[in-house]
Amino acid sequence: MGSPTTSSPEPQAILTPLTEASIFLTFVVEPGAEDAVRDVLADVSGLKRSVGFRLPEGALTCVVGVGAAVWDRLFGTPRPAGLHEFRALDGDHHAPSTPGDLHVHLRARRLDMCFELAQLLTTRLRGHARIVDEVHGFRFFDERDLLGFVDGTENPDGAAAARAVLVGDEDPGFAGGSYVVTQKYLHDMAGWNALSTEEQENAIGRTKLQDIEMPEDRKPPDSHIALNVIEDDKGQQLQILRFNMPFGHVGTDEYGTYFVGYAHDPAVIEKMLENMFLGTADAHHDRILDFSTATTGNLYFVPTADFLDDPPSP
Ligand code: HEM
Repeated sequence: MGSPTTSSPEPQAILTPLTEASIFLTFVVEPGAEDAVRDVLADVSGLKRSVGFRLPEGALTCVVGVGAAVWDRLFGTPRPAGLHEFRALDGDHHAPSTPGDLHVHLRARRLDMCFELAQLLTTRLRGHARIVDEVHGFRFFDERDLLGFVDGTENPDGAAAARAVLVGDEDPGFAGGSYVVTQKYLHDMAGWNALSTEEQENAIGRTKLQDIEMPEDRKPPDSHIALNVIEDDKGQQLQILRFNMPFGHVGTDEYGTYFVGYAHDPAVIEKMLENMFLGTADAHHDRILDFSTATTGNLYFVPTADFLDDPPSP
């Protein structure tokens, strides 16, 4: 990690608890709009303060990610070592790679605060960047996804979360930054609900009501947990920080999970995705993919708050 005596760059507000509400905005930057977009990025922290200061108990946060295709256009070189386009995966199930230059991850205890900041940012970006995806997520009872399982339990916290998420000495020019992978999943609720609770628990690898992890000798190798608990070559578990949110439209029968995972190295999330979509020696694919279809896929670098406040131009 960087020297504690020098002023370390301030990360964006990634390391905050799960909230009741979230809005996820994906933008594509118009050709020639780079200067205008850079100006808006420099104002993000001020706009966030304008909305958040009025209601501190709302715990509004905003994290901006920047995609590989637009990085050089906006900021020139150098670029973050791990930044590249999201790699599509083709196994029994498909993980697409879809357009996305900027990602805005808004979180608060109330949707109105996310909505107000989303509106201010979008108004400032109008004509310069267009929204290609917008998802409004909500807390579903006791942190459950729409499949009915508690989602987020095994997230690291405290120092372990910072270690999992923040870039350190391996890329000193971008220390304090992070990488975020997003995927929008739609669930086949009829198919899922046709399973017994025991079959559903086997798909996840945890119990449904009480959210207890299954013992190793009972956990199926194609369960979500079995495929996502991964280790480095020294046997240390590799962790990421997830802020998944349910979303949906009852009128069009749309029920989904917006997956959002942060890591200091995108390879950790990519390994999990490979396990899920391409399988392992013991499993063809993650059983939840039989009931969940990925419709988007993106990778972004999340620069520090200091970088965003005063972004370099090419
Ligand atoms: C349809 C989308 C998804 C749903 C509904 C879902 C749901 C869940 C649930 C219910 C758990 C168990 C509770 C917990 O610890 O959070 C979990 C754990 C986890 N998921 Fe997912 N997930 C999804 C996608 C993903 C993706 C795409 C990744 C990685 C690329 C991922 C990585 C993980 C990890 C690392 C854990 C914790 C494993 C552990 O340490 O026990 N999930 N997920």
